[in-house]
Order: sequence, then C-alpha cells, then structure tokens
Amino acid sequence: MLSGKNILLGVTGGIAAYKTTFLVRLLIKAGSQVKVVMTQSAGSFVSPLTLSTLSKNPVLLDFVNEEDGSLSWNNHVELGLWADLMIIAPATANTLSKMSQGICDNLLLATYLSAKCPVYFAPAMDLDMYQHPSTKISLDKLVSYGNTMIPAESGELASGLHGEGRMAEPENILAFIQNDLVQDLPLHGKKVLITAGPTQEAIDPVRFLGNRSSGTMGFELAKRAADLGAKVILVSGPTNLNLEHDAVDVIRITSAQEMFDACHQHFSEVDVAIAAAAVADYRPKHIAKEKMKKKDGDLHIELERNPDILFSLGEKKHKQFLVGFALETQNELENAKGKLERKNLDAIVLNSLKDEGAGFGGSTNKITFIDKNSQIKTFALKTKPEVASDIWEEIISRIHA
Ligand code: C5P
Repeated sequence: MLSGKNILLGVTGGIAAYKTTFLVRLLIKAGSQVKVVMTQSAGSFVSPLTLSTLSKNPVLLDFVNEEDGSLSWNNHVELGLWADLMIIAPATANTLSKMSQGICDNLLLATYLSAKCPVYFAPAMDLDMYQHPSTKISLDKLVSYGNTMIPAESGELASGLHGEGRMAEPENILAFIQNDLVQDLPLHGKKVLITAGPTQEAIDPVRFLGNRSSGTMGFELAKRAADLGAKVILVSGPTNLNLEHDAVDVIRITSAQEMFDACHQHFSEVDVAIAAAAVADYRPKHIAKEKMKKKDGDLHIELERNPDILFSLGEKKHKQFLVGFALETQNELENAKGKLERKNLDAIVLNSLKDEGAGFGGSTNKITFIDKNSQIKTFALKTKPEVASDIWEEIISRIHA
C-alpha cells in the first residue's frame, strides 16, 4: 500500500517523538520515501540527525536553512505538493489546536495548511489534556476538515498516570493507515480469478505440446488487481514469472484440464474472472507411460479437444463479470464479438495480429475492449502494465455502474 509513496512525517514536541524513529524505519521498510518536518521543541525529544539518517533525507526544522554561510528556503508549498500522505505523529495538544485554527507559525503548520494529500494525525498527550473539552473541539474540527485521527491508546503515560493519551504504537499507526487506504481502493472487497500463461499437454513423460505465451499479460492483470485492492487467484501455466504479493494466491498448473479444475474450484467465490491464458485447444488422446522411442517413418499423434475453460465458466456464471481475450487475424471485431456472445462474456479484449507489437511474448500490447453492449474502445500501443491498468479501468467502470 505504501510502496513508492511520498510520505511527509510531521513530528511535534511530545515525549512520544522518540518513537518516530521506529515509525520512519517501518515506512522506509514499506517502500515509502520519507521526509521529516519537525517543530523546534520536537528536537528536544528526538535528534534531527537520527531522523535524517533513518529517513535518508534532511530533516526540515524551519522556513530558512543556514548552510555553509548561505541561506536557503524550505518551501512549504512544494513540500505539501510533494507528499502523497502526511502523518503528524506525535500530534501535541498545542499543534492540534493550531492546526484546527489555521495558525501557521512554524514550517510544520504551514506545510500542513499547504498539503492537498490525505492527512493523518496521532494525538499524544497526558490523559487530562486528551479529555479536555478544548482538545475535543480541536480533534472534532480537524476530522470535520477531512483529516483522519489515529486514536491515542491507553496505558502508562510519561507523567506516571495511567489512561488514554499515549500515541498509537508505530506498528499500529502503519496498520491503521494501510487499512484506511485499502478501504478506498476500487477493488476493495472484491475477489478476482485470472488465468495466465500457456498450458503444456503431455505426449510422454518428457515431451509436451505447448505454445509461446509468456504469461506477462495475465501476471500484470493480477498485479494491478491486487494494487487496486482485490484478492486475486492467479491460475498460471508454466512460466518464468513470479508474483509476490500478499493479496495474490498463485496456483501453478501444467495442463488445460488442471487449469479447468482450478478455475472451477474457485469460480463461485469470485466477482470478476479474466481468462488471459493461451490454453491448448487439443491434447494427445493417449499419454505414453514411457518415453516414446524413435522409429522409422512418420509419427502420428491423435489429439482430442481440451475443455474450453472460458466457455464452461460462461455457462456457470451468475454474479461474475467475465472477460476473455481474443487473438484474431481476420474479421477481428466480428470474430471477437462472436466469441463474446458464444462464451456468455461481459467483455472481450481483442488483440489483432495485424497490429505490430500486439499479442504474445512481447512487452507491449495493443487492444480493443468490447463489452456485451457492443461498446468498443480502442487503445494505443502500450506496455503490458499500462494495458492491464486500462483493462481494469474499463472493468471497474462497469462493475461499479
Ligand atoms: O476461442 P478462443 O480460444 O479464441 O478464445 C480465447 C479465450 O478463451 C481466451 O480468453 C482464452 O484464455 C480462453 N480459452 C479457455 N480455454 C480454452 C481455450 C481458450 O479458457 N480451452
């Protein structure tokens, strides 16, 4: 969730400031870029040098920097725009009150006022301060402005008293934010089934019939779906690809029959299914138990039809949004539309082999998205991650309509 995100951490002057060293480490570990803005009094509780070393960025304390005898300006507007997310932790009663009133007498407050990104704040103060009506007014006001509060926890306080007011532990701050961001993702709560790659149909213990599908398109669709908040079941034939993502369950299969079985095992649980695999249409009727010996003359292998997985899912579908792929060489649109109807799909993604850079193996694709109402959208030649993103945008606009 936080990978690649720019996070601005605002640290104010409470004893819990020392815990922000752990918070910065967790954010960096989660793959974020972190910049720290501190108030002057926060510097008494945690060293700016520690936070700048951990965050791999200079810590910003004031509007004006004095470096090597020259002055430079910390631009709070630029900082606010840089951030994908601002976290103010610990947020003292003083800073919360100023934030709620639009006071900006330090760099942290000016940056907060400039930030257009989501802002989270984690209050930290003694229990009586936390319960004070004026604090409650500040908190309510800040929430009403669209900021998100990470509630203080209960426990022993620095004053020696016991009660509510401790800053949430860094792990809990991270979990809170991740959980909160996930709720807003367009595929949150959705389960998705994707088929990818080729299938291999055994001839004997060492030989098979296969095809050149790399599986890239299916893997990119799975990755994008997970990034958009879905839980993904990726049923893949043999490929060199890997996908390590908490929300993706990769089921490796070899033959079309195994792909068929895995898809049917999971189909009833999913909301969307995309068949991006290049499934072999035929398989050897008999698989030799021993390696076949070379003989004089020609060899004939009798083939039988594999099940059409997508067709069978179309027959079974009730709530699922079902998407297929069509790789066509002639009468592309007509053939793709025919397939959409025959297989009872909600949409089909057409690759025309007439388009250079489209289809199997390569790193790019050029697609036309056709839905069951014959709405047609043709896209430019793009990289496969971009194509995956376009396909999901089309699907999401239809499942949320
Ligand atoms: O009919 P055709 O093979 O052209 O249809 C392609 C679409 O059907 C693709 O989405 C492919 O993944 C799927 N398919 C399948 N099982 C098969 C053959 C194709 O799921 N046996």
